[in-house]
Formats: sequence, C-alpha cells, structure tokens
Amino acid sequence: MRKRQWVKGMALALAFMGLALGQTGKLEIFSWWTTGGEAAGLLKLFDIYKARHPGVKIINATVAGGAGSNAKAVLKTRMLGGDPPDSFQVHMGHELIDTWVTTGFMEPLDDLYQKNGWDKVFPKGVLELLKWNGHYWSVPANIHRANVLWYNKAIFEKYGLTPPKTYDEFFAIAEKLKKEGIIPLALGDNGIWASTHVFETVLIGVLGPEGYKGLWNGTTDWRGEGVRKALETFAKMLNYVNADHAARSWDQANDLIIQGKAAMYIHGDWANADFLAKGFDGYGWAPAPGNVGIYDALSDTFGLPKKAPDPQEARWWLELLGSKEGQEAFNPLKGSICARTDCDASLFNPYLQWAMKQWQTDTIVPSLAHGAAAKESWVAAVNDVMSLFVTSRNVAQAQEMLAQACVDAGVCKQ
Ligand code: GAL
Repeated sequence: MRKRQWVKGMALALAFMGLALGQTGKLEIFSWWTTGGEAAGLLKLFDIYKARHPGVKIINATVAGGAGSNAKAVLKTRMLGGDPPDSFQVHMGHELIDTWVTTGFMEPLDDLYQKNGWDKVFPKGVLELLKWNGHYWSVPANIHRANVLWYNKAIFEKYGLTPPKTYDEFFAIAEKLKKEGIIPLALGDNGIWASTHVFETVLIGVLGPEGYKGLWNGTTDWRGEGVRKALETFAKMLNYVNADHAARSWDQANDLIIQGKAAMYIHGDWANADFLAKGFDGYGWAPAPGNVGIYDALSDTFGLPKKAPDPQEARWWLELLGSKEGQEAFNPLKGSICARTDCDASLFNPYLQWAMKQWQTDTIVPSLAHGAAAKESWVAAVNDVMSLFVTSRNVAQAQEMLAQACVDAGVCKQ
C-alpha cells in the first residue's frame, strides 16, 4: 500500500518536473505547407523544437492547397468555432491585421519581441506591418519574393535566348518557342490565386511600383489606361500557357519546367525550393518582365490565438521561429530569405543570395495574392475576376469588376 503511494507520488513529481522542463504537453501548428520544400522547411523546424522540448507532442495540422486556398477557410471555421490551433500561418500585412487582429482574435506578443530583441533584428518596414495599435501580433518566419521569372536553362541555351526584361521581349520569345512546340509559359491555376499572382506582376510591370501601390490606397485609377493595358497584356500572355493550366497546381506547373516541356514560369520563390526538393538544378531566374529593380514581397508569419489550448508551447514555437537558428535552418529549405537581418548568407543557395541582395536595393511593393496589399475580401474579389477572365479574356468587363471591388473594399469612391 505504502509502496503504491510512493510510486504514485514519484510519478506525479516526475510529471511535474517534465512539465516545468517542457518535457510534456502538445503543440498544434496549422499551415498549408505540404509540398517538397515547404514541408521540408516545416519539418526541420519541428526537429529543432523537439530537440529543445523533447516531450512535447507536435501535431502537424496542414491543409493542402497553395497560398492557403483551402486552409484559410478551415482556419476560419475553427477560429470562429472557438477551436483554434496553438499557432497558425498567416501572411504579414492586411491578412494578419484585418482578418485576425482588429477583430480581436489574437494575443499581443510584445513580451516576446522585447525578450528576444526582435525590434532590432527585423527590418523597420517589416516591423511596421506586424504592428497595430502599438503592439506586435505575429512573428515573421521569412520573406518571399513573388515576381520571379523562372526558366529552363537548357531550353534557353538551345534557342539562344536571354530572360525577357520587357513584355515585348517576352512575347517575341514566347512566339518563337510556341513555333518550336514548347510551352512558353507554365501556369497551374487550379487554385485561381496563381493567375492573380501572374496578373499582379503584370500590374507592377505596367504601372510601376508607385502606380501599383496606389491601387491599394485609391490613388491609382482602376478605370485608367494602366489597368486596361495590364489586362490586355495578361490576356495576351494566356495565349502562351499550357492548355491544362486549370487542372494543375502551382507545383505541377513547376514540373513542366523540370520536364523541359515549358520554358518559363512566373511565380514566387517557393518554386526554387520545389526545384531543389525534386533534385532539379537546371533552372535560371530573373525578375518578371517589367519588374527589374522591384521586389514584390510577402512574409509567412505565425501568431498566438487568444484561445490557444497550449499557449506556453506556442510561445516556445514562436521563439524558435524568430530565432537565428530557426530562420537559418528553415529558409534555405523553404526557398525564402530570412526576415532577420543577421542570417549567414553562406548557408543559402545562389538564387537566395541574389534575393538577399535585391531585398536590400530594390523598391519593395506588397503582394496582393499573398495577403500583404489588401484585405482578404478584396483579394477574394480579384480572384473571382480572374476566374472569369482567364476564360473570357473580356478586358472591359474585368476592369469594371476590379474597379467595383475597390469600391466594395471601401478604398475607392463609386
Ligand atoms: C504562399 C506562401 C508560401 C507558399 C505558397 C505556395 O501564400 O506564403 O509560403 O507556401 O503560398 O503554397
């Protein structure tokens, strides 16, 4: 009897010690990182977390679908139903602030920022986008670049091509490749965001950085010449994409480059991680046409929901995510650069070293398709326009709908 009590007491003491040392408990992380490079980066972070907190059981709650096309709806149901994960992936900027912060779902993280000195290691522009009402609301894992033109080097060499800097150059190359039976431009928009993504780079290329930024604060006219020209340009580009684009995901479009079936792909730099995860190094890169000197940026961040069931475990996760060790381990696999300014560049591949330099010198603009430029309902409205446009190619109709979306977002006057 006495022995049994003693055993029980010991077990309790050990459990308590375990809890204090982070040896027990659980952590549920919600994201849409399911493909090669994305999953590899996430799992690497989990490995480091497990080494730091061996007893904590990690639940990898992923919902497949690029850009969160499915995950965001699942997250909304869980958050509104009072069943949040411990921490979730959310884009820096409007997606974070308008969807979750101003609505009162998140915990401020000022104590973590102070403890870890993050206000000194993240760039000022990034810090501003994570702040609302004087508080910090999430931790940035990375910076991605959206406006990259990826190309198959062997095809470009074979036909003596150089990456197109302008749309005229792009169409000349595209026409030549089409005649050779090569798909000029890969596209995988079974999630329509991938078309919005290409269109966003065209808006930037046609309007320039200031004109593009003005679209999101009402100073650039959606009914103007620039938007019309961007729609016409994008419509023309669609003449050069793979016929099965609506059936492919973003990474399946990337496969066309790997297989040498398509020559170019305008996409974010997670494509670089996908190439690497698939063992392909025959790719080159350049800014998307018209986008030289402009960095179309987004950031994956994670925050702490108010009702997170395991807030301490979540805080350990956030500390890892923002740490030098975490960012240097995660980003080379994820195909992004650190949000921190003190990462060791030698750990990164040549593309990412190029991106690091461009991040310092380029003009930075916020990505629309990935939550930085506009609130989610506005992004959804643009996605709807794109769904129609990729088949109808009706410029006047699309322009009118885009202008109306700006009005509906409360940014433009009727
Ligand atoms: C973006 C996200 C990236 C990458 C991509 C494809 O929205 O920021 O990290 O996952 O979607 O899924």
